[in-house]
Amino acid sequence: MRIAVLKERAAGEYRVSATPETIKKFSALGAQLAVESEAGLRASIPDSAYVDAGAALGDVASVIKDADIILAVQGPDPALLAGAAPGAMLAAVLDPTGQRARVDAYAAAGLEALAMEYMPRITRAQSMDVLSSQSNLSGYKAVISAAEQYGRAFPMMMTAAGTITAARAFVMGVGVAGLQAIATARRLGAQVSATDVRSATKEQIESLGAKPIFVESVAGIEGEGTGGYATEMSEEYQKAQAELVSSHIAKQDIVITTALIPGRAAPRLISDEQIASMKPGSVIFDLAVAQGGNVEGSVPDEVVEKHGVKIMGYSNTPSRLAADASALYARNLYNFFSAFWDEETKKPVLDEEIGDAIRLTRGGKVVSERLLG
Ligand code: NAI
Repeated sequence: MRIAVLKERAAGEYRVSATPETIKKFSALGAQLAVESEAGLRASIPDSAYVDAGAALGDVASVIKDADIILAVQGPDPALLAGAAPGAMLAAVLDPTGQRARVDAYAAAGLEALAMEYMPRITRAQSMDVLSSQSNLSGYKAVISAAEQYGRAFPMMMTAAGTITAARAFVMGVGVAGLQAIATARRLGAQVSATDVRSATKEQIESLGAKPIFVESVAGIEGEGTGGYATEMSEEYQKAQAELVSSHIAKQDIVITTALIPGRAAPRLISDEQIASMKPGSVIFDLAVAQGGNVEGSVPDEVVEKHGVKIMGYSNTPSRLAADASALYARNLYNFFSAFWDEETKKPVLDEEIGDAIRLTRGGKVVSERLLG
């Protein structure tokens, strides 16, 4: 069983899919590891650390040669993968709808492509969930980055020269990223409030010491669809939410938006008019900027100033914490493969529930229901 670890080639992608820790763990399962030279450099992992952990180093062709499993962060160019063993597994965040041509090429090459972002949200798969591990770090980084752009302090400070008031931070969308954003803003000393369409989040917001801001007047607002994700809300709800947000947002210094709906463009939560109602010097961080944005006028990787308000968001937030993001992502991959490791054959044998959910291609064909259906 040979496992190849690729160097990422996408612009701005600093993460890596294996760390010395996971190299050792995979070796303990009986696998042989080959890491592409400089794969971990931008995540602060020198080649020597991989060698010390027991991996071989080489160029892409040599690590791919006869590989049974290929690990990556983003889906690699299929042209790089020639020479892998027949039926080799490729595990990465494959962006199956955005990179459909690549998925077809993986199928044509006879690979078994596994989209890690399709991991079902079930209890036993929590430790394999790459969306969670990366979103958590994104929520933290959003607050830290907004704080850096903010020309004032977050905590209340009582000094000999007078008192500085605490910043008011508002988190919109309280999933994994939003919860971490609330916790981080609280740790920095801000007064935090938060909202979501899923009413189940109300208690979670309160338990983190923040104030829930919720639409109360519209009936049937559970807002929860399959797998704990949000559903698209009715027009009536959207109108009530916009009114509530308008009055609240004008008093905020920092706004972090994280709202996503699977398979759709990110919902628009903040309009230009609402931005204009905010105080000059306020900062909005749009964590959904790469999925179309929650905020009118947000541009990936730029700080746009409108009505005196700074609007920002990164196309790849976890990559900006590459060392931690890689450590967690690599563990997700290890947890996944080791859970299905067959002791006798020394290879992973996926079960139906998880295998069928994440498998995009096998036996030369696209097999994912999400792509076919
Ligand atoms: P996400 O990244 O898909 O969305 C972020 C948040 O935005 C969600 O809370 C969503 O309800 C909210 N949102 C969507 N539209 C909105 C709107 N118009 N206004 C305000 N908020 C809006 O969500 P994420 O972080 O992936 O988590 C979704 C759920 O899945 C959570 O309940 C989480 O606890 C659960 N989960 C379960 C896991 C497991 O059991 N293995 C693993 C990870 C998450």
